[in-house]
Amino acid sequence: MRTVLVTGGAGFIGSNFVRMVLQEHRDIRVVNLDKLTYAGNLENLADCRNHPNHIFVKGDICDAPMVSEIVNKYQIDAIINFAAESHVDRSLVEPGVFIETNIYGTLTLLKIALEKKMERFVQISTDEVYGSLGPDGKFTEMTPLSPNSPYSASKAAADMLVRAFGHSWGLRYNITRCSNNYGPYQFPEKMIPLMINNALNDKPLPVYGDGLHVRDWLYVYDHCTAVWDVFIKAQPGTIYNIGGNNEKHNLDVVRLILSHLGKPESLITYVKDRPGHDRRYAIDSSKIMSDLNWKPSLQFEEGISKTIQWYLDHKDWLNHIVSGQYQEYYKTMYSNR
Ligand code: NAD
Ligand code: DAU
Repeated sequence: MRTVLVTGGAGFIGSNFVRMVLQEHRDIRVVNLDKLTYAGNLENLADCRNHPNHIFVKGDICDAPMVSEIVNKYQIDAIINFAAESHVDRSLVEPGVFIETNIYGTLTLLKIALEKKMERFVQISTDEVYGSLGPDGKFTEMTPLSPNSPYSASKAAADMLVRAFGHSWGLRYNITRCSNNYGPYQFPEKMIPLMINNALNDKPLPVYGDGLHVRDWLYVYDHCTAVWDVFIKAQPGTIYNIGGNNEKHNLDVVRLILSHLGKPESLITYVKDRPGHDRRYAIDSSKIMSDLNWKPSLQFEEGISKTIQWYLDHKDWLNHIVSGQYQEYYKTMYSNR
């Protein structure tokens, strides 16, 4: 049985990935290392906690002795690194922790992966490393990196470190760069769950700027299957873009959420724009589709219905999050905006 260290496995995408692996790949043991920051939540894995192939460890990817210890103890064969500070707005307020986790944390994992001669290191990156698009075109794997926020700058730096470990010392790595994910267990600081939560509570829906920014949405399960395919099938040293070909204006997404929930458009409130807000993302996924035969299973209209229904069915999960520290966060970010 192969043992994979999945970092950040209590977060949004990581928890969906851990669940998928445990359910669909029974010959894999997952050691899930997560610091349980504000974004990490063991309730995301309530149904998997006692799975025989799942070991959860609370810890920081920057803590080299601890990471070495668990790598030795569980004889880790490969690392898939989801752990990160992931929210652009927070990076604009407090960038330091993004540098620590996203760059220094990745460096810590890379050193250990190299020292232990691991079979693979998969870095979960983002399309935001490419910067922003004009009205036409899509990001390919050849698009130059041009990150615009402290978050995306920290992710781009991590990508460069991963590449350098491959180039200098032959580390067998892959990098995945995915577009915006949505689906179950997403922390309600991100646009889709934030808008769902506000709409459910008849609170204003804060749309940044003119609302005409474009994101290319991918259902989280489809991101997970793509990462799995890269882990299992990709040649070392290759980078893959992942996207769903679902470009939408933010305003259209918000309107769709309101219409699904039977709430009025008068809840939409235009607020001050995010500094340096990237205008448009769009992903060309043709490389992963042709090399690895991956394709997304859901289009946006189906995925968003499923997602809204999930939040309706998991109001306790949502209410638990928004009743804590989140209130303070929301006040700081949105009052006087
Ligand atoms: P998330 O914020 O929901 O989860 C991040 C997880 O990492 C949390 O469980 C948190 O506790 C953990 N973590 C943070 N710092 C840590 C540390 N120092 N040590 C150990 N664990 C730590 O993020 P997400 O949206 O699930 O994103 C996961 C990864 O995917 C990130 O690397 C992100 O850059 C990337 N990504 C996200 C999206 C998206 O749309 N959400 C798209 C493309 C790529
Ligand atoms: O593209 C991949 C990236 O997608 C990931 O790397 C990031 O981790 C993830 O957070 C996400 O970044 P975005 O900044 O695109 O996601 P967010 O959900 O914060 O915002 C989506 C769009 O909605 C963006 O144009 C800003 C806008 N927005 C967001 C919030 C939170 C609003 O208009 N109002 C809001 O309250």
